[in-house]
Amino acid sequence: MKAAQYTLTGDDSPITVVDRPAPVVPAGHVRVKILVSGVNPTDVDQKRGSGAHRELKHPQVPNQDGAGTVDAIADDITDLKPGDRVWVWDSAWQRSEGTAQELVVLPAKQVVALPGHASFDLGASLGIPALTAHRALTSFAEGPARLSPGALKGHTVLVAGGAGAVGHMAIQLARWAGAQVITTVSDTRKAELAHLAGAHHVIDYTTTNLVEAVTEIARPSIIVEVNAKANLHHDIELVALGGGISIYTPGGGSGLDVPARAAMMKNVQLSFVLTYLTSEQQKMHAVDAVAAAVADGAITVGEEHGLPLIRYDIGNVPGALGAVESHFVGKVLIAVP
Ligand SMILES: NC(=O)c1ccc[n+]([C@@H]2O[C@H](COP(=O)([O-])OP(=O)(O)OC[C@H]3O[C@@H](n4cnc5c(N)ncnc54)[C@H](OP(=O)(O)O)[C@@H]3O)[C@@H](O)[C@H]2O)c1
Repeated sequence: MKAAQYTLTGDDSPITVVDRPAPVVPAGHVRVKILVSGVNPTDVDQKRGSGAHRELKHPQVPNQDGAGTVDAIADDITDLKPGDRVWVWDSAWQRSEGTAQELVVLPAKQVVALPGHASFDLGASLGIPALTAHRALTSFAEGPARLSPGALKGHTVLVAGGAGAVGHMAIQLARWAGAQVITTVSDTRKAELAHLAGAHHVIDYTTTNLVEAVTEIARPSIIVEVNAKANLHHDIELVALGGGISIYTPGGGSGLDVPARAAMMKNVQLSFVLTYLTSEQQKMHAVDAVAAAVADGAITVGEEHGLPLIRYDIGNVPGALGAVESHFVGKVLIAVP
């Protein structure tokens, strides 16, 4: 089987496509025939490493996310069978086996059924973005631990950066859960995409007074924040009393200037999200909720749904990583093999 791999970290280190034997399937595991591999900023970061060239102990196959069909199962697996359509998550997290290869073996909990109406492109777009969005929407003491239809009824959610991959998933999950959704973008094309994703209100943060524009609609009880460095002061000003701000990207540098008094005067809850290190329960709530939203047809990808797709082949993984790095608007996918 074909696998794309690198043996040296660093932006410019080569990625080669090699032939490998099919991996064996230990107990508790599933072998997936990957058809589409999804690329995220984290995959670029993983390859870059510290920036310097560092020789890896094992060749690294890139990419956390992917979709395909079950190729083989261990004897103790009962809820999946060969041929089932599936999506996978966190494939390359602390492992050398990402999804840019024809066959990947994963613990069964990381292999999730994909309904017949959902494309493999959608399946490969879920893992990092949708699981992060779910955690960001559920990290508050008073909120639901797991989204479902109606779970956010009565809430207004502000999603910063609604044309981003995580932003797109946050809009669609919040809508599915019954929230009123406001989102921000930086130009008219992204505004159109955010509307197509399902946001009720879209605000261009480059031309509008954000605090005025949001509070005219409502004070959000939940904010999903992609750039805390740029937005935290505004967020604290416009958030509802007792509301929560969920930060999944600090936005440059390692520190953050928190207007602590203003935050205290509103009992604001600040929450930080790293999808890899959510608790087991939080992760499984996210996986189950995302699977349910996909089954309901509430999560969609493609230009017509607000998340354009661009596709590379497995011989051009560097091109795919480069597209993510240069902020392609939408989702970068790799066709495997
Ligand atoms: N913590 C975690 O677990 C986790 C998980 C997934 C991703 N991430 C990180 O989250 C970031 C986004 O990932 P992604 O895949 O969604 O990337 P993406 O598709 O490139 O989206 C990023 C979005 O953020 C928007 N943005 C940037 N600055 C903004 C601002 N000040 N206000 C509002 N929107 C702003 C961008 O649009 P404009 O610049 O045009 O506004 C863009 O639409 C990356 O840094 C990634 O590493 C973290």
